[in-house]
Amino acid sequence: MYKKEFNTIVKDILDNEKFINLNQELHHGITRYDHSLRVAKTTYKIGKKLRMKNLEETTRAALLHDYYTDSQFKEEKPNERLYLHPELAAKNAKEEYQINALQENIIKSHMFPLKGEKPKYKEAWLVSGVDKIVAIYEMYRFKASLMVNIWVLFLFNLLIQK
Ligand SMILES: [Fe+2]
Ligand SMILES: [Fe+2]
Repeated sequence: MYKKEFNTIVKDILDNEKFINLNQELHHGITRYDHSLRVAKTTYKIGKKLRMKNLEETTRAALLHDYYTDSQFKEEKPNERLYLHPELAAKNAKEEYQINALQENIIKSHMFPLKGEKPKYKEAWLVSGVDKIVAIYEMYRFKASLMVNIWVLFLFNLLIQK
């Protein structure tokens, strides 16, 4: 039920070739596509439980909160990208979709308090919180699997030593 409703809300974005291209972008050890989808699904589930009024707009903005490609940056260093990407994601989203004030604030404030606008709506606080929790989960998962791989390689090397 949740899944069907969620898919109806975001179908046009998920079918958009530019959005599909986020599959090529690495983000927290996974793709930016998967990260964005996870943030949107989690936002939708929590918003639904809270009976949030603007659930559709909020879910769509959550999906678009990191809507940018690395190639859109030129000289900026990775840490500058961290600060600049919410503005860029909002700009990209506006070029493709009808974005209202709530959605613009959700996208631009998702890095708060690190950088960008302050969340002005409870929906923006929700997406910002969900993004952080999801990012920590993804980074931890990535690092955990990296550690396992290093240990497997180490043990393998040890075993083939003579
Ligand atoms: Fe982000
Ligand atoms: Fe994010």
